[in-house]
This record gives sequence, C-alpha cells and structure tokens, in this order.
Amino acid sequence: MVIRFDNVSHIYGPGTLFEKKALSGINLCVEKGDSLCICGKTGSGKTTLIKHINGLLKPSSGEVKTEGFAGLVFQFPEDQLFAPTVIEDVMFGPLNMGKSRGEARAAAEEALARAGMESQFYDRNPFTLSGGQKRLAALAGVLAMKPQILVLDEPTAGLDFRSSASLLKLLHHLNSEGVTVIAVTHEMNLARDYFSKLLILDSGHAVWNGNTADAFCAGNRELIEHAGLEMPQDNEIEFLLR
Ligand SMILES: Nc1ncnc2c1ncn2[C@@H]1O[C@H](COP(=O)(O)OP(=O)(O)O)[C@@H](O)[C@H]1O
Ligand SMILES: [Mg+2]
Repeated sequence: MVIRFDNVSHIYGPGTLFEKKALSGINLCVEKGDSLCICGKTGSGKTTLIKHINGLLKPSSGEVKTEGFAGLVFQFPEDQLFAPTVIEDVMFGPLNMGKSRGEARAAAEEALARAGMESQFYDRNPFTLSGGQKRLAALAGVLAMKPQILVLDEPTAGLDFRSSASLLKLLHHLNSEGVTVIAVTHEMNLARDYFSKLLILDSGHAVWNGNTADAFCAGNRELIEHAGLEMPQDNEIEFLLR
C-alpha cells in the first residue's frame, strides 16, 4: 500500500461565511504500481483530494498515509514554474535533493528528454513557452526528482493530440517501470483506456472506486451521469493514440 485515505474529509474556511466541504469521507487504497484515474466534474474535489497525497493540504478529519516521494504536476504549469530558464527550473528539484550541479544537469536533461522537450528550449524563459510546452517543462521538473508516485492534475488539458498521445505513452511507460501514476481528468475515455483503477467524485463524495474495467457497465450510467460525466465512447482520438 503506497497511499491510504481513511475517512478523509476536507473543509475549506471552517467556521467562516465561505465554509465549503470539498471532500466527504473518502476511503482510498493505492498499491505500488497502480494507475489510478480520478474523475469528476469541475468543483467535485479532485484537486483537493490529490493535494492531500503530498501533504499540500491536511485532512479536516480522517487520515492520509503516503509511502515514498509523491511528485505533483499542477493543473496550471504557471503555478509550478519559477526559474528564469527551463533547464534551471528542472534542475531545481535535484539540486534541492542534494545533487551536484553536474548530476542535477544530467537528471534535468534526462527528464526533459523523457517529457519530449527539445534542447533548443533549455535556455528559454519557461513563461515565454506555449501552453503545451509549459506543461512539459513542469512535468520534467517533477520527473527529475524521480518520484515513486507521480500525480498529475488534468495532464492533457490544453495539449494537442500529438502531445496528449506522447504524454499518455510516457505515463504508461513510467507505470510499467513501477511508478505509481495518479491522474485527474474529466475525460472518461482517458480513464478507460489508460488507467486500471478509477475513482469518481461527485460533490466531494467517492461514488465509484474500483477497477476501471468494471466501471462502465450499464448499471453505472446513472451515477456517472449524475456526477456530470459522460460514458466513454469509441472515437477517432482513441484510434490515433494506439
Ligand atoms: N482554497 C479554497 N478555498 C475555498 N474553497 C475552495 C478552495 N479550493 C477549492 N475550493 C472549493 O472546493 C470545491 C472543490 O474544489 P476542487 O478540489 O478545486 O475541485 P476540482 O479540482 O474537482 O475542480 C469547489 O467547490 C471549490 O470551489
Ligand atoms: Mg481541479
């Protein structure tokens, strides 16, 4: 077990006018090497949930246990990037973990290559990159720290087909190397095609938690639609991704 949530609830602004219960009684067990997709419409609590995995948020009640280093790729790369150049940005994690500049540079180059970023971008200011490239730079920054658990918030949002396809292939590859991969999305096709486990959030409640293969049966249509999601459909994108 690498991640365990026991009856986790999270309340923002408790006791204030803005009090909001974002998670209610979440139970979750993630095993090493799992690939888990967390689905739900906007505001259902997805980001709140994953911020508990690496301790960015603490539960208001209940308990979270995580084993190993969890690297989080934020929904908006602007929240993650900060250095004047891409390479410095990606080297920051390894340097912070005590690596020499040479080792950090090597780790950064490897991570950037895996993320699919070409060397011509290394000395660019990350904030001048396109949305898709910013995402790749932010992803590389997390990969450079070699996390045992990789958590990605809406990883394909804003990416074109090609970039989405290569990102999903990379996630699949990392997962086959033993990295536990957790991604947040509201695209059910992604969940079905790339993740073995699925958690569906509806207004902060886990309304489905189990194997993806079992999730998309006719009997679950109502809960999926109630959660504001669509049953996955066969489409051309899927074909292109294969
Ligand atoms: N910092 C915050 N303060 C108050 N409410 C918040 C905060 N962050 C999120 N929320 C509220 O908590 C709920 C869940 O938000 P979030 O976890 O971001 O959902 P999702 O990622 O699924 O869109 C929403 O109603 C949102 O408005
Ligand atoms: Mg979110």
